[in-house]
Amino acid sequence: MKKLIVANWKLNPETPREARELSAPIRRVAAKLKKVTTVICPPAVYLQGLSSGRLLFGAQDCFGEISGAFTGKLGPTMLYHGGARYLILGHSETRARLSGGQVAGDTDLMINHKVRLALKNKLKVILCVGEHERDHHGEYLKIIKAQLEADLKNIQRKQFDNLIIAYEPLWAIGASAKAADTPEAFHHQSLFIRKVISRLVGKEQAMKTPVLYGGSVNSKNAAGFLTEGEADGLLVGHASLNPFEFIKILKIADDQT
Ligand code: PGA
Repeated sequence: MKKLIVANWKLNPETPREARELSAPIRRVAAKLKKVTTVICPPAVYLQGLSSGRLLFGAQDCFGEISGAFTGKLGPTMLYHGGARYLILGHSETRARLSGGQVAGDTDLMINHKVRLALKNKLKVILCVGEHERDHHGEYLKIIKAQLEADLKNIQRKQFDNLIIAYEPLWAIGASAKAADTPEAFHHQSLFIRKVISRLVGKEQAMKTPVLYGGSVNSKNAAGFLTEGEADGLLVGHASLNPFEFIKILKIADDQT
């Protein structure tokens, strides 16, 4: 299986020109790599301008309806026609959290609805799961299990062919995180994730479902996650905003497989 390397640009860069400059060197390298599928998830407003050639694109979230009176929202079919083939859902930055005394973001129920809608509308879903804190008693595994079971409820087995899981422990995400997870711990988590999925749709499908690692991935730790950690790919945040660092990660992934 090809390694899937996904860039999550989040709220960057500020102009379409910078977006083109950022994607151009990546596009040139990605086209030559045989063992890597490269996906860039820019802000949705850049999708149409960037999505051409052999590079694949994705969106970072979507609204849970196709069309209607929903001011300011973007539905999955719009994203698809804008050039997105992948869709990140359940990212910790879009999940429900307390903000200014109010809950903002998606609950598992909303994520499940979006996952089903996106899969029905030709998008490949990258579902992010992960715990806030790593405790020593394995309680965090219950959080991952609950997220998977709720977010993947009523998804048919054949739809799993278009589903990718990204394990992203929250404490490892972002430029200010102290450290990434370790390849050994990721390996453990990915086996656990497959076990939960196998209870939902059977072992065969669970083994086929790619599990990516995300959280402070860079060119120094990428190889460890891909080899020792046996990750099927990586979800790269801040390191993907430096095209040369991201290209290094792509080349490392191409060398590992
Ligand atoms: P990071 O972000 O690589 O900056 O930690 C990863 C993500 O949030 O998807």
